[in-house]
Amino acid sequence: MKLKALNGFKDILPADIELWQRVESCARDVLARFQFSEIRLPILEKTDLFARSIGEATDIVEKEMYSFVDKGVTMRPEATASLIRAYIEHGLYVQRPVQRLFTIGPMFRHERPQKGRLRQFHQLSVEVLGADSPRLDAEIMAMGSMIMERLGISVSLEVNSLGCPDCRPQYRENLLTFLAEREEHLCDDCKRRIVKNPLRVLDCKNPVCREQVADAPSMAENLCDVCDDHFAVVRKSLDTLGVNYSLNKFMVRGLDYYCRTAFEFVTQDLGAQSAVGGGGRYDGLVAQLGGPKNPGIGFGMGLERLVLLLQQQKQDESRRIELDVFVAGLGEKASELSYGLVHELRQAGLRVGMDLDGRSLKSQMKQADKAGSAHVLIIGEDELASGKGVLRNMESQEQQDVELTAEAIHKHLAG
Ligand code: HAM
Repeated sequence: MKLKALNGFKDILPADIELWQRVESCARDVLARFQFSEIRLPILEKTDLFARSIGEATDIVEKEMYSFVDKGVTMRPEATASLIRAYIEHGLYVQRPVQRLFTIGPMFRHERPQKGRLRQFHQLSVEVLGADSPRLDAEIMAMGSMIMERLGISVSLEVNSLGCPDCRPQYRENLLTFLAEREEHLCDDCKRRIVKNPLRVLDCKNPVCREQVADAPSMAENLCDVCDDHFAVVRKSLDTLGVNYSLNKFMVRGLDYYCRTAFEFVTQDLGAQSAVGGGGRYDGLVAQLGGPKNPGIGFGMGLERLVLLLQQQKQDESRRIELDVFVAGLGEKASELSYGLVHELRQAGLRVGMDLDGRSLKSQMKQADKAGSAHVLIIGEDELASGKGVLRNMESQEQQDVELTAEAIHKHLAG
């Protein structure tokens, strides 16, 4: 039987690594501008942590978790719960009243795999703990937009407010009354949602359900004064920062810990998987997990989806440069000289390739091109005699003679 990765689990091959690294380094660069520090967290946590934070009645906890039932542990389906567990466990709030933290790594959800939807996927997860200013909400969304912009990915930002424990119960009642009159027309999933999690009926993708809820009361129109003021400042601050967004009064998110601001970065370019990132405020979660009453806000971005978008937008059409120079030695003597020279160039910090099998010049030029080398240094009999090799720029095709010492070559390449 042929060995194969599990369905929904994917190898990330060397040909794709450059894009992954581009996404991660762009995110790290933007996060540093906003004063974020990295935290690395374990993949396994007690199952209870996720049930208590994400919510017993969510799809994630109900049917998507990879749990070791006999051990009472689960492979994390997201990182927010683990990050808050660490925040409480290590008393990070004592060191600094406001913590800005991010983590990057694999998450696991037993979903039906399709384009942009995997069972092991990677997230950048960003959290700010200990601050409740609505201006922070806008700052965090602006930061997410900045990451996308810097990557050259165009997405739209959708924003909503999910209220708080003061105003949501009344709204929930109003919504239930509305849904009760239409229940018979809703899909089976939504019939179950009415009982367990009625807000989720609002973002059902089934066209019939969508039509049924088109006139449903929305949370954003039923906020208490405090939430309403908060949301008004969020929107004003987004305007101040020049962030484009639209209101989506039916966006409810798939995790239960959110309150007030909720948002998603969406695209039309990934088929059914429209969310590239999503997040919101979760002011009650730290206390709910046994920590101090510190508010929080954050988002998660799906790295596979970002990489797919970059691939689709063909931003990587230009030739990838992975080597500074490929040294093509022709003949035994030139190869011997090249062998030592390549090592010296690598010691000097350059990325260098060479052929060890005595191939022809044509074949070595092909190798250099395939390897993504910016230059080729050709050393044949004549070059050996003169002590100067031919350095060819692979893009412009320009050639120049260069002395065959590591120092001279390094200088040429740096200049
Ligand atoms: P989420 O909306 O469940 O939020 O996931 C965030 C992002 O992860 C999604 O927008 C999507 O890009 C990506 N994602 C989710 N599931 C998959 C999958 N099966 N395959 C590929 N990509 C996927 C959270 O996880 C929250 N913890 C975000 C957050 C942080 N909220 C506050 N802080």
